[in-house]
Amino acid sequence: MALTQAATWERELLISTRNTSLMLTAGEGEPLKFAYYGDRIEACERNRVHDAWIGLNKDAYPVFGTTCNFAHAMQVTHADGNMTLDLAVSDVSRESTERGEHVSILLKDRKYPFELTAHYNALYDEDIIESWIEVVHREKKPVVLYRFDSSYMPIRRGDVWVSHLHGAWTAETMLTSEPLNNGLLEIRNTDGARNAHYAHPELMFSLDGCPSENSGRVIGAVLCWSGNYSLRVDSDNSQVHHFFAGMCSEASYYKLAQGESFVTPKVAYTYSDRGLGGASRNFHRWARNGMVHGGDKQRDILLNSWEGVYLDVNEADMVQMMEDFAQMGGELFVMDDGWFGDKYPRKKDNTSLGDWVVDNNKLPQGINYLIEKAHENGIKFGIWIEPEATNCVSELMEKHPDWALQVDGRKVRYGRGGTQMLLDMTNPDVQDFVFGVVDDLLTQYPDIAYIKWDANVELFNYGSTYLPQDKQSHIYIDYHRGLEKVLQRIRAKYPDVVLQACGGGGGRAGYGVMPYYDEFWVSDNTDAVQRIYMQWGASYFYPSIAMAQHVSASPNHQTGRSVPLKFRFDVAMTGRLGMELQPKDMTAEELEFSKRAIADYKLIRPIVQLGEQYRLVSPYDKKGVASLMYVSSDTSQAVFFAYKMEHFTNMNVQRVRMDGLDADKTYKITELNVPLDKQPCHLNGKVFTGRMLMNTGIELALNSEYASRVFLLEAQQDYK
Ligand code: GLA
Repeated sequence: MALTQAATWERELLISTRNTSLMLTAGEGEPLKFAYYGDRIEACERNRVHDAWIGLNKDAYPVFGTTCNFAHAMQVTHADGNMTLDLAVSDVSRESTERGEHVSILLKDRKYPFELTAHYNALYDEDIIESWIEVVHREKKPVVLYRFDSSYMPIRRGDVWVSHLHGAWTAETMLTSEPLNNGLLEIRNTDGARNAHYAHPELMFSLDGCPSENSGRVIGAVLCWSGNYSLRVDSDNSQVHHFFAGMCSEASYYKLAQGESFVTPKVAYTYSDRGLGGASRNFHRWARNGMVHGGDKQRDILLNSWEGVYLDVNEADMVQMMEDFAQMGGELFVMDDGWFGDKYPRKKDNTSLGDWVVDNNKLPQGINYLIEKAHENGIKFGIWIEPEATNCVSELMEKHPDWALQVDGRKVRYGRGGTQMLLDMTNPDVQDFVFGVVDDLLTQYPDIAYIKWDANVELFNYGSTYLPQDKQSHIYIDYHRGLEKVLQRIRAKYPDVVLQACGGGGGRAGYGVMPYYDEFWVSDNTDAVQRIYMQWGASYFYPSIAMAQHVSASPNHQTGRSVPLKFRFDVAMTGRLGMELQPKDMTAEELEFSKRAIADYKLIRPIVQLGEQYRLVSPYDKKGVASLMYVSSDTSQAVFFAYKMEHFTNMNVQRVRMDGLDADKTYKITELNVPLDKQPCHLNGKVFTGRMLMNTGIELALNSEYASRVFLLEAQQDYK
């Protein structure tokens, strides 16, 4: 791709995708201005943006000290102590890429040898514009960065609402929507290591009042960073809400040496006039096209050992679980925590992390034997690791006590098990070790097909024995840069191994790392009812192919709730289906039902994992029912899910209207996952036009508590 450096450039820079446009005003020697973001406009309409006074004349990237008198995206202190920036456009380059266009705008400080490049990468088919910045300076001594947001966008005031995710361990990705008012709304997370339990660096602005699934204009923004972050919506008395997104700068000022470049993570923006659902589908497409590793490859159906045996991993149970799962039609077995440790075997969760060698007492014939058994049963084998962590009781800490984050002269604060510590990923030796954990496993056991990469401890001890004293404030940022380097090395060598991002449940669900992982564990909470809410929230930004969803035992181990096996399957089947229980505890009927459900999932897998998602009735709306569907890209097939969320006698469950179908096609409905002792419902085998299914909708027979339905819809050729 040739870089065409324009000697002169058009002052009104229009950056467009199929349906959206961003416009900036880049006058040479002037500050870069934001003019417009929204529905696609053509080049001839550029002046009209200003004529209609849509152009907001706000700085495109407000910096502290000179031009902006409101909140800012960047603040630095120069080598001589000056705290201000005054940036003017110096150059613009436009480069066409395979998927769109990359525009970079060079801004130079009028006084100091300090440069900032604002990048905009437009992805045409996805309707995504990625934005980030890069700074470099030639000052004699380091420049200190005190605030370094990736991006800024002014959002015109009106009846603007914001939707975002909040939660906690075992209750991740719960959705919240609120109208934007005066003052500051900040979404941030400062866990240090895993940053998706409590909040998510993603949001959607509904510009036309109360958020709606399929109408109204929506701007979505996603920050691609696994470390601490801050998304701020600052609403002052001007006409806009000021939106900033970037790495959290708290306790993280960054010393930048002469010539060193500082590149921020990117923020991906999308715009849709088809409501929240339209914006989500744009993000899903973008994710499947590269922001989730292997986003176009269908996922295996797996059994994970955790809730089945917990830490009591042993050869007999592993083999039996594989045999039972293979009988059900499963495709992959994952041996979770508990398989490792030599001098300190992993009996409880308070030892052994770091000692990634097999525990010969639990697994006398080793891992190769388990892999052989998996293959004999026609399934693949996967394994759990937590490579960034250690316990103070481990051979690793005996050999390398300086490799854990710790503060000189202070008592170590431990995490899980009262002994767990985080390794210092800023240290290249630790990065080599972490890479080596995966590399050694895959070299020794090349047939390992899947690795669950866990992260169960916060960044508690703010001290690195590797970073010099004057760069201790780099820990939060350099930890994640170190992690990313390791992940890049792993992917360069092992592009095909399936990696799951787990962070004590959903703590690592984020686009900072998803380009390296095939999926994330949504939550340690496998209760099907609560999962409906969590999976719904996650689906605002993440595609189903990336969401690991497991059928577990009843009563559920986290909530104690009992729900039918069918309901549990019907909920798990909206993402990457798996199971997480001990099959030998199931009845013959349950095993038979599971076998049929797994066979049914194989039928709908391409539609669920690669199709377009339409959310129909939200569980958050408390209508007694929740419903969603997936439609294949050619609209010839779809799969519909509905769940009874409340149960009273004489209850009126609303008719559900489908979406995303071809109005002119006719679709035959086949009910899936029908319980062994029940008949399919009244809709089974019936044929309807897409128009009728979408306009009139269907009556659901959801007559019992925790009733649920799954329908396959297939377009008919010559139906009259
Ligand atoms: C975390 C994960 C679980 C399981 C345990 C093992 O909590 O989220 O799925 O792997 O660790 O210790």
